[in-house]
Amino acid sequence: MEKIEAVLKEERVFYPSEAFRQKARINQLQEYETLYKESLEQPEAFWGRVAGELHWFQPWQKVLEWNPPNAKWFIGGKLNLSYNCLDRHLETRGNKAAILFEGEPGDSRILTYQQLHREVCKFANVLKSLGVQKGDRVTIYLPMIPEAAIAMLACVRIGAVHSVVFGGFSASALADRINDAQAKVLITADGGYRRGGVVPLKANSDEALADTKSIQHVVVVKRTGQEVPMQAGRDHWYHELMADASAVCPAEPMDAEDPLFILYTSGSTGKPKGVLHTTGGYSVYTYLTTRYIFDLQENDTYFCTADVGWITGHSYVVYGLLQNGATTLMYEGAPNFPNEGRIWSIIEKYRVNILYTAPTAIRAFMKWGEEWPRKYNLESLRLLGSVGEPINPEAWLWYYRVIGQERCPIVDTWWQTETGGIMITTLPGVHPMKPGHAGKPFFGVKPEIVDSSGQAVTNPDEGGHLIIERPWPSMLRTVWGDPERFERQYFSQYPGRYFTGDGAKRDADGYYMILGRVDDVLNVSGHRLGTMEIESALVAHPAVAEAAVVGRPDPIKGEGIVAFVTLKSGHNPSPELAQELKAHVVKMIGAIARPDEIRITDALPKTRSGKIMRRLLRQVAAGEEIKGDTSTLEDRAVVERLKASSPH
Ligand code: WTA
Repeated sequence: MEKIEAVLKEERVFYPSEAFRQKARINQLQEYETLYKESLEQPEAFWGRVAGELHWFQPWQKVLEWNPPNAKWFIGGKLNLSYNCLDRHLETRGNKAAILFEGEPGDSRILTYQQLHREVCKFANVLKSLGVQKGDRVTIYLPMIPEAAIAMLACVRIGAVHSVVFGGFSASALADRINDAQAKVLITADGGYRRGGVVPLKANSDEALADTKSIQHVVVVKRTGQEVPMQAGRDHWYHELMADASAVCPAEPMDAEDPLFILYTSGSTGKPKGVLHTTGGYSVYTYLTTRYIFDLQENDTYFCTADVGWITGHSYVVYGLLQNGATTLMYEGAPNFPNEGRIWSIIEKYRVNILYTAPTAIRAFMKWGEEWPRKYNLESLRLLGSVGEPINPEAWLWYYRVIGQERCPIVDTWWQTETGGIMITTLPGVHPMKPGHAGKPFFGVKPEIVDSSGQAVTNPDEGGHLIIERPWPSMLRTVWGDPERFERQYFSQYPGRYFTGDGAKRDADGYYMILGRVDDVLNVSGHRLGTMEIESALVAHPAVAEAAVVGRPDPIKGEGIVAFVTLKSGHNPSPELAQELKAHVVKMIGAIARPDEIRITDALPKTRSGKIMRRLLRQVAAGEEIKGDTSTLEDRAVVERLKASSPH
């Protein structure tokens, strides 16, 4: 638990306003408690009732089968998530906006449910015409444009398994993900706009395809309009294929446990894991969490700033919202383009009611100054959300005061790629808020805090490992192609219980405070990065002998990346080499993994058994005094030399 840091003390409790409470979907504590109790004691009744609000081609026979670590939900049921996102609303909400799109250059588009349905059906037919069949994998590497949602829904419609790769990942990271999933088709764009520049997605794709064999066709959306080479037979323009496609494409009835999508995320080994979600449970859980946690009302406009390349974009930009027939806003670009008021100008322009963003963004907004949000009318906002990392009370209070104008409740939502949906949060019309505490478990979720032997920690405010005791509908089902890793990673530390990798504590009121990762995973600007992943990238450089990567506290990013490297003989430390190593990591993984600091040193601190002492490196990286036991160090002089190494 050494990584757990003290969080600023903030004792104040904030209550939802009476005005908010009165209109909220759930506004009685008693109602939450009754439903929560039922969800744990009679999960079959509870989840069966929720699932019944969606459309099924065939009803399930049994709600849950649990043979740890394997859960099956809604056994025998058949449904299609694209049907529940689109067809189900055509009669009552056909002309309602499903997607509001704002491009970085200022272009905008609105797709009604009717129009989105039509585009999805057409693109589903395009995929079929390229030979995509149920169960095939399709990689999506697009900017935040409506075609990303269209492509996801089109895959889902025909039962193809999508794997969305964040547009900020490099060619090499894209190739790894294509290869692991053995994807048949790649959907990309010529480029995407970012901070006034163009991200060369097609060029990256071409580079990735040189290292992959499985891709048979590439579909290219024209977004930025720059020249891109098109390989005859392999590459096709999206608009050309769509021109001739039929708009009739019935949704494929999928088994509740059929694979829905794969999403790669970092773990404590060098290779990202393909987290697999399946159809029924994921649909039901994202439908319900969206409805209650964001207190969705029929006329709300909802804006989540996450990219569809992350789980937040899957569950709370696209699927949870559309299943509820809501209006979801997609913004393509950077929050500070053309200036630091962009997010607030979007909120004013579309009269956004619900904003969901990350602490790292909030801290950047704070740095840019209150004058930016003050220039715009934010009165439409009703509810605010936070996700991705612990929110420090200072950022919470700023968000509450400056953006929410002390009128909007904040939901601090804890969850993971693996959990599929939000697990711990307050319900905005019910629970008082405590800055820095995510809050209470959502329906069906039974968290526990345990010590390393698996014993529940019973003292309030005592830290431990956060585990989840029972299966919940949107739990990951496996790691793609590696069921053994699935079991080892999540269910072996505390047999039969899901280990989150996070530390947490619970106060006397049952509120959970998340303390951050306890494994070798960094959280940089709300993005998960494995230290081993960055280390593998570094040692792939010809000059590097060994690398050890650690996090250090960063006022904006939450955590910054510091890499300690030793060089192979014949190579000498220099500022130029340090720059080259940073660029190398960007090339191997993407800009999100660029080390903030490289420290070239002549040795790494190791124990006599050869294990790198990361604790020491973290202290050196943070500029702290070396504390704790160093007696197991093989060579104590290393510490002094490390401290003397100059940071680049
Ligand atoms: C962290 C993002 C504190 C946590 C949805 C988790 C949080 C990891 C919160 C998952 C929060 C996410 N408070 N920490 N509200 N939300 N985290 O898979 O460490 O990208 O394990 O999913 O982010 O990151 P992932």
